[in-house]
Amino acid sequence: MKIIGIHDGHNASVSLLDNGKITFALQEERVRNEKNYFGFPEKSLDFLLKYNKLEVKDIDAIVFAGEYMSPPMTKEEFMSHFAKQGSVLMTIIKKISKISFFKKIRVIKNKKRRIELAKKFGFPEEKITFVDHHLCHAAAAYFGLAKDWNKKYLILTLDGGGDWLCSTVNIGFQGKIKKIAETSYGNSLGDIYSRTTFMMGFTPWEHEYKLMGMAPYASKKYGEKVKEIYKKYLDLNKKNPLTFSRKIFKDTNHIVRRLRKDLEGQRFDNICFGLQDFTEELIVKWVRECIKQTGINDLICGGGVFMNVKANKAIAEMPEVNSIEIFPSCGDESNSMGAAWLIYNNRVKENHFNGLNDYYLGPLFSDEEVENTIKKFLRKNNFYFQKIENINSKIAELLADGKIVARCSGRMEFGARALGNRSILADPINQKIVNIINKMIKNRDFWMPFAPIVLKEKSHLYIKNPKNISSPYMMMAFETTDKKDEFIAAIHNADNTARMQILEKGQNQDLEEIINFFYQKTGRAVLLNTSFNLHGHPIVFGPKEAIETFLNSGLEYLVINNFLISKNEE
Ligand SMILES: [Fe+2]
Repeated sequence: MKIIGIHDGHNASVSLLDNGKITFALQEERVRNEKNYFGFPEKSLDFLLKYNKLEVKDIDAIVFAGEYMSPPMTKEEFMSHFAKQGSVLMTIIKKISKISFFKKIRVIKNKKRRIELAKKFGFPEEKITFVDHHLCHAAAAYFGLAKDWNKKYLILTLDGGGDWLCSTVNIGFQGKIKKIAETSYGNSLGDIYSRTTFMMGFTPWEHEYKLMGMAPYASKKYGEKVKEIYKKYLDLNKKNPLTFSRKIFKDTNHIVRRLRKDLEGQRFDNICFGLQDFTEELIVKWVRECIKQTGINDLICGGGVFMNVKANKAIAEMPEVNSIEIFPSCGDESNSMGAAWLIYNNRVKENHFNGLNDYYLGPLFSDEEVENTIKKFLRKNNFYFQKIENINSKIAELLADGKIVARCSGRMEFGARALGNRSILADPINQKIVNIINKMIKNRDFWMPFAPIVLKEKSHLYIKNPKNISSPYMMMAFETTDKKDEFIAAIHNADNTARMQILEKGQNQDLEEIINFFYQKTGRAVLLNTSFNLHGHPIVFGPKEAIETFLNSGLEYLVINNFLISKNEE
C-alpha cells in the first residue's frame, strides 16, 4: 500500500509511505530554494513521483495534514499577517471565524481548494482524505518513535496552533492514539514564543531558536523580572491542568501589541531569558500534571514547541520522566508523515511499528549526475576537483588538519537540522573555528552555537546522559562533561550545553567512517556539524545548490559523493 502525505502550509512537505514505512520525504523549500515555503508542495510532489518512478494510479491514498490550512502566503504576506494581529479589525474577524457555522463553511471551501490542487495531478477525489492537525503531530511521534506495541506511551503535542487546537495529551497503546485532553487555539505557549520572536525583529516560526540561543547570555536577575511579565499571560487551566488557559482578554496570537507595551525598556537578552525560562517552567509543570494523572512516564512528543531543545532538556531532567523521545523536525513539516502513518494504521491492522531508522529520506544523486554538474560549473568558474577512492579518510584528514569541509553526499536529510549529509563539518577543538565559519557563511548570527556529532558508543565521554536518552536527530540539549574543551567550538559558550547528534549504528555508515578516521588521527571522536546553506536559504538540495553555495561563500572544500572540490589546487 502506497500513501502520499501532504502538508500544504508553512514549510510545506510531501512524504511517501510504502507498506507502513516512510521511504521518501521532501520539503518544498529545498526544491524551490525558498526557505519555509508556504503553500501546496507542487514541485516536491512532482519530484517524489518522478524520483520514485510512480504514477498516480500506483498511489492508494492521498492524505492532507490538517482539516483546514491557510491559503498560500509569500514571506511578505506572512510577516504582514503577524503585524496586523491584535488590531480591532483582526480581532473581530477572528471572533467571527470561531463561530461554528462560519468555521464549517470555511473548512468546506478550504477542502475544495485543496482537493482541486491534488486533482490537477490526476489524483481522483475518492482517494483524497484529510486528518486533524494535532492528530498528525501525535501520529508522527507515536508511529515514528514508539518501539513497544504493548507499552503505554504518553503522547504530547504542543504548537502555535492548528485546526483550532494548540496542545493535546494522548495515550498511545497497541497502535491506537486516544486523546484525553486538548487546549483550544488562542491559549498557546507557541504563540507567545513566536509573537515575541516577531516583536524582536526576527522571522516567526523560523527564528525562535535564536531567542533560545540568546537566553543563557542574560543576567538571571533581570531575566527573571521579565519572566514575571510572561507569567501574567498564560498558565495551566485550574479546572483541567492538562490544558492551558490564557490570563489575558485577547487570544495569544494577538499578543504582539501587548508585548511591545509590556516589554518596552527591557534589554533584548533579558527578554529572551524571561521567555525561555517561562516556557521551560510552564512545560515542566504541564508534563508533571500529565504524568500524575495518567501514571505514564514514557513520553513521545511532537509539534513545533518541541523544537526547543532546552525545554526538552528540562523535561528529560524531571525525576518523574522515565524516557522521552521527540519527533525529528517536529514542526508542521513532519505532519505529512504523521498523516500518512495514521491512514495506514487505520486501514492495515498490524501489531508492530514501522518507525524511523534514520532521517535520510530525500534524494540521492549519482556520481554521473555529480560529475556532469561539476563540469558544467567548471565552464564558467575556477576551481579544482578530483575523484578520491577513500573520500571518508580524506575528509577526516582535512578536518584533523583544521580545514572546514562542506559535505553533500548520500540521501538528503529531512527537516530543519542537517545530520551530516548536507552539513559543514569541522574539528571543534579550536574556538577560533566559530568565527572562521561565521565569516565563510555570511551574516550568520554571531551568538548562535554550533552543534556536535558523536558516535553513540563514545557519547558518554562528552555529554551527561544518565537516562540514556537517544538523540540521533539533534532534538535534545545535554550538559557536557569535563571533556568539553575537546569540542569547545560546538557547545553553547554561555552555559556549556550541547545539542548533540548521537549517531546510532547503521544510520549513516559514511559519517560513522569519517568520525572513526578522525578519531584514529586525533584521539577525539566528536565533530562540529552545522547546516550547509547560506544564511536565509534552505539547506542545499543537490550538487547544483552545493556548488553554488560553495562558490558564493568562503568555503574552501566541498565533498560531493567521492568528489573533492577545492578552490585551490590540492
Ligand atoms: Fe502544528
